[in-house]
Formats: sequence, structure tokens, C-alpha cells
Amino acid sequence: MSDLRLGEPAVAGRVTMLKRLDRRVALVTGGGSGAGAAIARRCADLGASVVVADIDYALAGEVAAGIRAVGGAALAHRCDVAVEEQVVTLIERAMHEFGSLDLVVNNAGPWLDDDPVEHWTRIVGTNLLGTLHVTRASIDALRRRGGAIVNVAAGCGLGFGDGDRPAYSAAKAGIMRFTAALRGLQQDQRIRVNCIVPDRIEIPEEFALSVVELALREDCAGRVVLYRDGAVREVVQYGDPGYRRTEPW
Ligand SMILES: NC(=O)c1ccc[n+]([C@@H]2O[C@H](COP(=O)([O-])OP(=O)(O)OC[C@H]3O[C@@H](n4cnc5c(N)ncnc54)[C@H](O)[C@@H]3O)[C@@H](O)[C@H]2O)c1
Repeated sequence: MSDLRLGEPAVAGRVTMLKRLDRRVALVTGGGSGAGAAIARRCADLGASVVVADIDYALAGEVAAGIRAVGGAALAHRCDVAVEEQVVTLIERAMHEFGSLDLVVNNAGPWLDDDPVEHWTRIVGTNLLGTLHVTRASIDALRRRGGAIVNVAAGCGLGFGDGDRPAYSAAKAGIMRFTAALRGLQQDQRIRVNCIVPDRIEIPEEFALSVVELALREDCAGRVVLYRDGAVREVVQYGDPGYRRTEPW
């Protein structure tokens, strides 16, 4: 059972109130813009020290500076999550600067319209391998106090939405399967792993709230959760029953 359940409720007005993240350390990949930036700010609002990791250092720096400007603790780190050595350095820096790691959000996940063939390796490298690299490098740090990982997938990985992005869809499907297969981390190492599956993110702040809430919900450990702006989130029974063939062929 994870220990990432500290503090008093801090944000009212939702079905579930979020707990404070004081003295906790959060790492957000792709934290320099969009949803990642909103997640980084949300974690900081709740009291966490935040590592804003992005391939674009200038963007990460702006987000981290914005957090510090309102009294929070944040650092920016340039990291291409597709490159394992850079990810290892990122986690080492987080531990060195803040002394622990409690929440990791694997958010970096670029896509390209039409998924041109020449970019397939890059798209899978960032979305899927990046998630694997960050997860693997974080495990030792996360299990010290018990922690949480939230992986960000996309509806197309479930077969919803555009069908014209083969590499991106395959990578996002892999992230869901990876999440479901990591149950052992929960039992053996006190690390909850979840996956959130947006169809489209129109309101990054709303999405960020759901990401942090998912990280803190012990009853959702190991779950894949479908997200739509402004709609009720749905838990996907992903990988639970396994794949069942019902008819011989
Ligand atoms: N925006 C949507 O409507 C939508 C829909 C479904 C799923 N998603 C998923 O949600 C997540 C966030 O989406 P977004 O629209 O905010 O993304 P975004 O493209 O706006 O931001 C992604 C950030 O990741 C950074 N990044 C790109 N490649 C990187 C790498 N190799 N290493 C580290 N950082 C890298 C970029 O510099 C950028 O700051 C992604 O995983 C995306 O696939 C988004």
C-alpha cells in the first residue's frame, strides 16, 4: 500500500477532495507546456516540490520560474525521455536537489498529424520507450516512501478517435498494457501505477486535476481511466479479465 496519501484535503468543490502534497516531490515529463505545465502547477499548488522536465529547456524554465514566483519550489531540467541516459540523469538530479521522489507523471507524448513513416521510431521512442525509461529509473526512488506513477495515454490507443496515427496509437496502447502489467509494483514495492486516457484535452487545468486525483486514489491503483473534458471519468476494465476468445475458428 502506498504512503502517498498525506495531508488534509486541500481542494474542495469536487466529488473527491485532493490531499496536500507538502514535503512531496513530483516529476512531470513534457512539463514545459500544455497539460504537463498545468500538472506541474497543480502539484506545486498542493505543496509539492516539482521537477519540470522537458526536451525544450526554455519552456520548462518558464514553468519552473512561474512556480517559484508564487512561492513554490521547482526546478527545470532538459531531458529527452527517449534517451535512457538522459532520464537516469534526470532522476539523479531530482533526488540530489529535492531528496526524494513521490509522484511521477509520464506526460511527454508528442504526435504528428498522419504519423509520417519517417517519424514512427521517434513517436514510439518518446511515447512508449520514454514512459518505460522514466518508470524504470524512478522505481528505486519511489519505493523509498511509497509513491505513484501516472501514465498519460490517448483514446486512439483504445481504438477510439482517429485511426490514421499508427505509431502514436500503438505507443499509447502499449502504455496502457504496460500500466496494467505493472501490478506487481503495487504489491511488492508500494508504487501505484495508473494510466489516464484523454480523448482530447481542451482544458489542461481540468485534466491536471484529474491526473493528481488519480495519483492519490488508492482504489484506482493499476487502473486505466478514460478522461473527457467536463465529463465523468470512466474506468476501463483494461487487462483485468484478460483477452477471452469466445468462439473457435
Ligand atoms: N492535447 C490533447 O488533446 C491530447 C489528446 C490525447 C492525448 N494527449 C496526451 O496528453 C499528453 C499531453 O498532451 P499535450 O497536448 O499537452 O502535449 P504538448 O505536445 O502540448 O506538450 C508536450 C510537451 O512535451 C515536450 N516533449 C516533446 N517531446 C519530448 C521528449 N522527447 N522528451 C521530453 N519532453 C518532450 C514538448 O516540448 C512539450 O512541452 C501527451 O502524452 C499526449 O499524447 C493529448
